[in-house]
Amino acid sequence: MAEYDEAANRVAVPLNMPRDFPLVSREVPLLETKYRRIATAFPAPESIPILEALHRAEPLAMRGQPPVVWDRAEGFQIFDRWGNAWIDWSSGVLVANAGHGRKEIIDAIVQQAQSKLLTNYCFPSEIRARLATRLCELMPEPMKKIFLLTTGSETIECAIKLCRAHGVKAGGRRKNVIVSFEKAFHGRTLGSQQAGGIPALKEWIVNIDPGFVQVEFPDGFRTRDTSFDFFLRQLAEAKVDPANVAGVILETYQGGSASFAPREYMKHMRDWCTGQRALLVCDEVQAGFGRTGTMWGFEHYGIAPDITTWGKGVTSSLPLAFVAGRPDVMDLFPPGSMTSTHTGNPLCCAAALASIDLVERENLAGNAARMGALLHDRLRALKSRFKRIGFVDGKGLVAGVACVKPGTLEPDGDLAFDVVRRSVEKGVLMFSPVGFGGGTVKISPPLVIDEEAIVESANVLADCFAEATE
Ligand SMILES: Cc1ncc(COP(=O)(O)O)c(C=O)c1O
Repeated sequence: MAEYDEAANRVAVPLNMPRDFPLVSREVPLLETKYRRIATAFPAPESIPILEALHRAEPLAMRGQPPVVWDRAEGFQIFDRWGNAWIDWSSGVLVANAGHGRKEIIDAIVQQAQSKLLTNYCFPSEIRARLATRLCELMPEPMKKIFLLTTGSETIECAIKLCRAHGVKAGGRRKNVIVSFEKAFHGRTLGSQQAGGIPALKEWIVNIDPGFVQVEFPDGFRTRDTSFDFFLRQLAEAKVDPANVAGVILETYQGGSASFAPREYMKHMRDWCTGQRALLVCDEVQAGFGRTGTMWGFEHYGIAPDITTWGKGVTSSLPLAFVAGRPDVMDLFPPGSMTSTHTGNPLCCAAALASIDLVERENLAGNAARMGALLHDRLRALKSRFKRIGFVDGKGLVAGVACVKPGTLEPDGDLAFDVVRRSVEKGVLMFSPVGFGGGTVKISPPLVIDEEAIVESANVLADCFAEATE
């Protein structure tokens, strides 16, 4: 358990928790380019009362992001009220795939709101039917049934429920083990945190369900052995009988590093799950809807999961998430036993339909692939230049830049934090570092970003690393 710091009257910040930004304005160089404008001290002096109000009213755990008070967001830019503008490298938190504040999405939401249907629970509505049908048509086989929810964590809870129900039916009550991966993040609810692989986040749970087992993720950086045999050996070491595995859950890429598993590994995993009658679940909450340069992240593996979980980028705006799965699995529960108050909320459905239209019509997966190639070229060049970048990973418009202590694989959270702070002060907005030891600078701009903005923001990142390390 993280230690309690009596003097500060709070739990000491564990290694993987973001450092906080002081609410004291400092002079920073003013600048203006086509896409960035820094016109005030940082944080903007007039934003301090708003930030302080949030500190007073919200729990400590809500702190940690750069103190930029968002007022307006358009395309790939964020604006505050005091004349500052940033190129957005966060997409919120990988939400605004089709771009911020898109007119088509706003119009769809407004039109739906004006129809006066704002909520309808699980009662039928035409707009929910339209979205569910659209998603069923879009999803590859065998994921032909859709359950609409609100948050990514809920979709993981639902996937766990389906895996276990399916496992018990297929192999009896002992077939309940959920295998997932170290360093994984699947959300903050009880089940999703147990499926996650970050021990510090689970200490509050105390009585961890022994049916959740994590193995190393084959990222090729911290885990050098990326063979599928290593997966099997780890199960044996954890004394898991493969026959008792109900499901394997993985983020399509690990959010904390943007790392993908090797394609061969995933092909073995697919076959193994089929052989064991275990369900393969890809958590696409971050990876879906064009982010990685393909419409769905798992396309990079050339496999089809049994269940997928989705959220974030599905609407580019309002909260909507969903589970897509094999019909026989999705139909395991009787009527009325998989519900949620806001399932398929009409405004969120309207936003999702409009956002999916944009992602498809503008081929934003294609843009992510093209802009991503440019971005990753730049990042590889940075890695050769700065020895304290241990690893760069990702595909399309998601990247993780892992900062390490000199000559080691040990994450350097201080360096990552310093780089993010400098970059925000120069007009490129990122969220605070993520991943193992808080050492990863995560890059995830809206998929509408153009070449000029990619080059400009990548140059800013290079300047920040130079200032922080040289
Ligand atoms: C891969 C993944 N799964 C699940 C979640 C949880 O989603 P939410 O925050 O909407 O509950 C997240 C959120 O960051 C995520 O990145």
